[in-house]
Amino acid sequence: MKINPINNHFVADVDGIDIGTISDEDFEAVYQAWLQFGVLRLHNQPLDEESLQRFSRRFGPLEERPMGRLPAEAKAKIKNRYVTQLSNIVENGKPIGGLGNSEANWHSDMTYVDTPPPASILLGIEIPEVGGNTYFADQQAAYEALPEALRTRAETLSIKHDAAHTSVGSLRPGFEAFDDPRQAPGAVHPIIRTHEETGKKVLYLGRREWAFIPGLSLDDSETLLDELWSYAATDSNTWGQQWQPGDLIIWDNRRVLHRRDDFPADSRRLMKRCQVLARSI
Ligand code: SIN
Repeated sequence: MKINPINNHFVADVDGIDIGTISDEDFEAVYQAWLQFGVLRLHNQPLDEESLQRFSRRFGPLEERPMGRLPAEAKAKIKNRYVTQLSNIVENGKPIGGLGNSEANWHSDMTYVDTPPPASILLGIEIPEVGGNTYFADQQAAYEALPEALRTRAETLSIKHDAAHTSVGSLRPGFEAFDDPRQAPGAVHPIIRTHEETGKKVLYLGRREWAFIPGLSLDDSETLLDELWSYAATDSNTWGQQWQPGDLIIWDNRRVLHRRDDFPADSRRLMKRCQVLARSI
């Protein structure tokens, strides 16, 4: 197994392993590289859900996929219940996955809950010829780029992270529409976070839309958020992935933001994802 940095500070390729058969020793090296870089890419991985779920579980317990109002018996029959599909493909009149073909804005996964998932693991299955690239932005570098005065101010403040909208901007089922970020429901987290495992400080913004800084007026909150976001994703701290089937990306939501491009509605894109609920013990 070889770890090959492909970007000078936060992305690496991991070559020479298969997630279906990875040894304990190689997994430990992958885990340490994931902490070091924040984003790892593995090519030519098996496309089956079992391998993805088994590998992902080594990082820690997994988030169950949304199963809506399915009856208990139907839920019990779902085999790989920790694998979620992201797709624009419609079968029998129903989308087989989330997010459709829309652009997803910069975000870190599920920051609107009190304990967001540390790791997300995304596998490319069907890839459109055009669009659908996924981008990552290093928030350790963003923190280090903050001017001293802004950093000091941000250290004392938190952000309320909107739970009501998805990363493509649609309202989640069960939430009411609102037009003032102060009304957004969701968890509050400090703007500057100390990464639990690396001890490094990171800028922790979640997503821009409907965010609010408690304790400030709405105008002051909007101005400060815009200023902080101007450091979050710049040419020097972002990297983009053009997918091939079998590419697997593991990212650390505590360290990076991600976004993706839209793609033509008449092409097919299918991704499978696991989210790790807590770090491995
Ligand atoms: C997302 O996690 O926001 C989508 C990533 C992707 O589909 O590339």
